[in-house]
Amino acid sequence: MYAKTLLIFLVAVTLFTTCRKDETGDATAGPTYLEQHRPQLHFSPPTQWMNDPNGMVFFDNEYHLFYQYYPDSTVWGPMHWGHAISKDLAHWEHLPVGIAPDEKGYIFSGSAVVDWDNTSGFSDDGEPPLVAIFTYHDPEGEKSGAIDFQSQAIAYSNDRGRTWTKYENNPVVPNPGIRDFRDPKVIWDSDNRQWIMVLAAQDKVMFYASKDLKKWNYLSQFGKNRGAHGGVWECPDLFPVTISETGGRKWVLLVSINPGGPNGGSATQYFIGEFDGQRFRLDQEFGAEMARQARKDTSNVAACWVDYGRDNYAGVTWSDIPQEDGRRIFMGWMSNWDYAQVVPTQLWRSAMTLPRQFQVKSTAMGPRLAQFFPQELQNIRGEKKEITINTSPGTTHDLGVDPQKLEIILEAATDATGSFGFELLNTKGEVYRIGYSADMQAYFSDRTKAGNHDFSEKFAQEIHYAPKQLEGVLITMHLVLDVSSAELIADDGLTAITDIFFPTEDFTTIRFFTNEGVAVQRLDVYPLEGVW
Ligand code: FRU
Repeated sequence: MYAKTLLIFLVAVTLFTTCRKDETGDATAGPTYLEQHRPQLHFSPPTQWMNDPNGMVFFDNEYHLFYQYYPDSTVWGPMHWGHAISKDLAHWEHLPVGIAPDEKGYIFSGSAVVDWDNTSGFSDDGEPPLVAIFTYHDPEGEKSGAIDFQSQAIAYSNDRGRTWTKYENNPVVPNPGIRDFRDPKVIWDSDNRQWIMVLAAQDKVMFYASKDLKKWNYLSQFGKNRGAHGGVWECPDLFPVTISETGGRKWVLLVSINPGGPNGGSATQYFIGEFDGQRFRLDQEFGAEMARQARKDTSNVAACWVDYGRDNYAGVTWSDIPQEDGRRIFMGWMSNWDYAQVVPTQLWRSAMTLPRQFQVKSTAMGPRLAQFFPQELQNIRGEKKEITINTSPGTTHDLGVDPQKLEIILEAATDATGSFGFELLNTKGEVYRIGYSADMQAYFSDRTKAGNHDFSEKFAQEIHYAPKQLEGVLITMHLVLDVSSAELIADDGLTAITDIFFPTEDFTTIRFFTNEGVAVQRLDVYPLEGVW
């Protein structure tokens, strides 16, 4: 009897100490995923520093997510590839570090592919190997003032990405004398039966081709005088997309840029065009559209942006999603180099965005990138609440739901005036607002009064706007709220805002507001289940 009581006591103490909400931020405690500000729907590392998503590849029913990771600190340092997998794009299992730095340097961002035909010869058992393509960043070279300290290298795995062997003849693409020369993304070009690598080279991207992933030939470059150039180009991606309206195919080129984003700091621009196995050429209509955006955009930059928020950077898409599925799925790093290293989380730093499905839509303004939350998000939905609200001027309407993990779908008539949207509140008087401003003809996200922002003067300077892309169509908002972030996909996928925030006490109330009145035609709300 005594032994049984003691056992119950010990179990209770263990549970209490391991599951307690870590309000103190004690970095020696293990992760509980209940820490203050910890995302409940988004991927974040158990502890320590994370930046870009890397090596995203689907193989054997697993979505692999590698990520820039420093296992010894909550600030950036010698980069490793951390590793996690998911079977449903919602729940994640953490695995040991995938690739660690060595005498050749840190392991910077890159991609991974399934080498189905064993073109590399790395297979040891007839099964296709996974091949990772990454940048070696040599910190000693950098310190010595050299400019050729970044080069491209490969590693392979024959056990479903669990362990990796670096190729003995690395690097496979030596540095040609360019200081910023990194972030290779490799795709299989089935038209020409070759591998294509696109990488960032300071103020442009460069394309290379290979038959075996080991020997690469330079093809061409793009971007010197195209798009935004407020900072260095990083983390490109190139992929074909079928346009649903026409069945035609277009190529999308993503390029992250830091700084120089539309609302400051890091952001990702996109280009739409053709790729013929050699060269990327901008679509004519899209080029005209970029110029139109330049006139409309407050930043006056001739660029189209994946996301107008401050917190969606270095995003790329998964490789090898099966043809029967056919989707192009993207994920970004939900932070910004302007303040990523000082945000007020204790045990870990940064999360990823939710996965997003990319398409190209043919619009009145030419081809445009459109994005959606993938259908997998529906698997974590709770019961739907359809809300009918009085939307006369000056209304605020408490939605009566917990804003911590919430999905909202709203449609409103285009003739709205003033501004309307949602506000999240806590008992400390802090407020986060997200919605649409008819005066600005733009969606907006306002974290200027949303809690702690003392850690960086760049964090909460101003309201972030995303211009409405199409005139005369419904105002639509698809919004996911998760403890310390908001992801808004608006305008039927044509524009997005992703922002993080740090209320000193969790937000407990969410209200709809409108100052001049608006005809809301649909307001559906789903509580979401946490994934940890
Ligand atoms: C983008 C980036 C990449 C680089 C990595 C280093 O955020 O600067 O260009 O490979 O982070 O961690």
